[in-house]
Amino acid sequence: MPADFSPWRLSVAPMMDWTDRHCRVFHRLLTRRTLLYTEMVTTGALIHGDQPRHLDFDAVEHPVALQLGGSEPADLAACARLAERWGYDEVNLNCGCPSPRVQRGAFGACLMGEAALVADCVKAMRDATALPVTVKHRIGIDRIESYDFVRDFVATVAEAGCSVFIVHARNAWLDGLSPKDNREIPPLRYEIVHRLKREFPQLTIAINGGIKDEATIAEQLAHVDGVMVGRHAYHEPWSMADWDERFFGEAPNGLTREAVEDAWIAHLEALWARGTPWAVAMRHALGLWNGTPGARRWRQVWSDHKLKGLPPRQVQALATSARLGSVTA
Ligand SMILES: Cc1cc2nc3c(=O)[nH]c(=O)nc-3n(C[C@H](O)[C@H](O)[C@H](O)COP(=O)(O)O)c2cc1C
Repeated sequence: MPADFSPWRLSVAPMMDWTDRHCRVFHRLLTRRTLLYTEMVTTGALIHGDQPRHLDFDAVEHPVALQLGGSEPADLAACARLAERWGYDEVNLNCGCPSPRVQRGAFGACLMGEAALVADCVKAMRDATALPVTVKHRIGIDRIESYDFVRDFVATVAEAGCSVFIVHARNAWLDGLSPKDNREIPPLRYEIVHRLKREFPQLTIAINGGIKDEATIAEQLAHVDGVMVGRHAYHEPWSMADWDERFFGEAPNGLTREAVEDAWIAHLEALWARGTPWAVAMRHALGLWNGTPGARRWRQVWSDHKLKGLPPRQVQALATSARLGSVTA
């Protein structure tokens, strides 16, 4: 029997252009228990765009949460319904991305300045679906440094029925910093998130931002209900191989990089058989051998444009030879 852990104990962050369905299949080969988030999908893209393209996913990805970007309660409700219809396990509202303004108002981190609107959004989504509705946000916007700001935001949104908050522990500076700089420059303040958990013990509070090793994950789990990891998980995927054992008390999974690579190539072959170039998926797995001899050569072979027309097993053979040093790549 799996122990009774919070579904939010460990998750991989939503990351645009990165955590697409292929990336999530890859991550699932490394950890069965970690919750995976989609990239943010805007309500406009879902309502007016190609829904299967945005929403289809592979059954192996469960548990998987759909992250939405939007600020119109009715639109978000419609999209929450779609999330349920497609079989997602959760729907998450992005209140943390420093995105530019969009046609019908603002979304992302700007929403932190409009807690009542976020509450309306959450209410509408909760009325539309039985799925858990969660919110990902920052600790503040621009130069607002006070704890009260984020506390009031959480209190208002919790009143509308949201009980799970994933908190990126830095402000979003909406006045000129690029999204990338907004993930680096505003200082991390973990203690603010710990304080939220202390003041709202009944809520599920997960922390995010700058968590780069397993010791820090363990340390954070002493203060909050969950840890969301973004860039570290993406760039050092093998680090996730012992998460199930370490953080969910599972028996050792006996995974090897070779076995993960082999299962991953099977995914690439399935894509290839359907006429989809394997490179669209493989870019997410280039870090698999990081930290081992030959990792760079292995990555170089998989990134070589001249090889993109070959079947994946052939490229794998070349990459493995390069990695093991029998061929100079
Ligand atoms: C390439 C990239 C794309 C991102 N896209 C999203 C997104 O779509 N939605 C979101 O809420 N956060 C997004 N983020 C922010 C991450 O979810 C996370 O909050 C941030 O990277 C901090 O966590 P980390 O230090 O563990 O990476 C993105 C981050 C990166 C690096």
